[in-house]
Amino acid sequence: MCGIVGYIGKRHALPIILDGLKRLEYRGYDSSGVAILTDAGLVLKRKKGKIKDLVGLVGQETINGTTGLGHTRWATHGKPSDENAHPHRAGDVVVVHNGIIENYTELRAVLKGRGHHFKSETDTEIIAHLIEDHIKSGESFELAVLASINQLKGSFALGIMHTKSPDRLIAVREASPLVIGFGNTENIFASDMPAILPYTNNMLFMNDGTVAVITADSVKLLDFTGSPLPVNPKHFDINPATAEKGGYKHFMQKEIFEQPQAITDTMRDRLLFDKKEIDLNEAGLEGKLLHAMKRINFVACGTSYHAGLTGKYIIEEMTGIPVDVDVASEFRYKTPLLGNETLTIAISQSGETADTLAAIRLAKKHGSRILSICNVIDSTIARESDHVLYTHAGPEISVASTKAFTSQLIAIYLIAIHIGRSIGRISKQQASLYIDTLVTIPSLLDNLLKQEDKIIALAKEYAKCSDFLYLGRGISYPVALEGALKLKEISYIHAEGYPAGEIKHGPIALVNRDMPVVFIAVKGRVFEKIKNNIEEVKARDGRIISFTNTGNNDIQNLSDSFFLLPEIDELFTPILSIVPLQLLAYHIAVMNGTDVDQPKNLAKSVTVE
Ligand code: AGP
Repeated sequence: MCGIVGYIGKRHALPIILDGLKRLEYRGYDSSGVAILTDAGLVLKRKKGKIKDLVGLVGQETINGTTGLGHTRWATHGKPSDENAHPHRAGDVVVVHNGIIENYTELRAVLKGRGHHFKSETDTEIIAHLIEDHIKSGESFELAVLASINQLKGSFALGIMHTKSPDRLIAVREASPLVIGFGNTENIFASDMPAILPYTNNMLFMNDGTVAVITADSVKLLDFTGSPLPVNPKHFDINPATAEKGGYKHFMQKEIFEQPQAITDTMRDRLLFDKKEIDLNEAGLEGKLLHAMKRINFVACGTSYHAGLTGKYIIEEMTGIPVDVDVASEFRYKTPLLGNETLTIAISQSGETADTLAAIRLAKKHGSRILSICNVIDSTIARESDHVLYTHAGPEISVASTKAFTSQLIAIYLIAIHIGRSIGRISKQQASLYIDTLVTIPSLLDNLLKQEDKIIALAKEYAKCSDFLYLGRGISYPVALEGALKLKEISYIHAEGYPAGEIKHGPIALVNRDMPVVFIAVKGRVFEKIKNNIEEVKARDGRIISFTNTGNNDIQNLSDSFFLLPEIDELFTPILSIVPLQLLAYHIAVMNGTDVDQPKNLAKSVTVE
């Protein structure tokens, strides 16, 4: 996610803004920039890379000004580059932005028609031109901003400067966070608290649909109609280190709780709720390519591989197209039986995993078209794919992948519904039902996350066990694998995922009171079968933890512990059932004192074989 810092007050803005951007580095970024209003005019510095590269660009130049904006960019539209870095300028207007403007292409066309010229590929640049256009029409800075933001669709946290209005900055919040810090003859605003805390603990978290007009001595709040709103800053007793994690103890916990937002952002402007349609132009799943496609092959590693395994159930059910799933490190050394009739889908959060990159290069050599599902814009795998469907989960800092996994599943649902509709396998009514289900998921997840204390109680009971078995059937089988991976990689406890129907072929010999058996037992076509498996383990004195969505007591009565999931179409259960398993792994690891965010021997991205 991008980082915004704005300062106006009694001190030189540049050092404060650079310090603030450094404190927002945890948000992940690929370029940065600053705009400072000096007596000699506006100084704008932007650089691809890290903040140290920006500092290098600034060098020994004296840039004295007490009003400024800064930005760290997490690319969503347009590759990471100097010219795409923020701030963006149009005449006397300078803008920094966090979010996605869904209607920027239409607005850019209108502005081009009015003589505006654009230098970048970003959606943000059109905002600066829009405001400048209104000012040129005779509107004041404030009214020009109000008129412009009412023309925008999407999510936008904005910092705006007008060189002819040096005594004020304007901040706007719509679906992307902004916090204002109230200082003594100085005010600062930013995407998150860490940038503000060194200067003041008096802060106000802006609400959606609000505009702040900020001077060195005052903050005025308006709604998008221009009506005044109350200004009530609060004192926050929090230290900067904790603040980077949004008040959570670890990035992993923060990212688990970010999943409703990550899923919403990944669906945004692709799931057209009113029309009950999916718009996936960027995926290239159109026309002759689509109709020539006879097979789909997922290639991925780790958690992304588990997303691919889940995707097999989803896509085969929705499209009738056969799906293979390969571990990339296996695929890259085999003789692949694929060609132009196969669509290869690479799944990779980082977009840099060496095995997955090698796999798509091999698939490409055999004539397969490549679609990748990545979370990092312009990553190597994204660049080497024919098409990319980006998840918008925001940077995933913790080594253990959580919000990326559920966002990958959302991308797969969108692909499956889109293909199913395009080849006539899914009726409009069925697609509408699927879309209605997808739209409920963020709030269902919110409700699940509110029950974290139940998971903490489970973790307390089982944290000292040394072996776990995770069992699931059908679409819950990959969830069992992913739940086991989460536990083993952050708590170092041995955990194994298995298809529940397989326990009689070996694992049932392991069952004893010291090895908890985790069942994902959701209502669906194999529910009775999974219940039989639970009875088989119970009969051998197994310790059973069930994650189930059935109101009836059968499963609860058979289990030593259980957690109730909301009921949903079985095909969509993985997005819900994985979350309590993520939390269970997290809290067991915390109780065992391991390094949750940076587990031993692991890297966030395995860029070597
Ligand atoms: C998952 O929690 C692990 N961090 C790891 O298995 C990861 O999923 C795997 O390395 C693949 O990474 P990628 O999605 O960036 O390609």
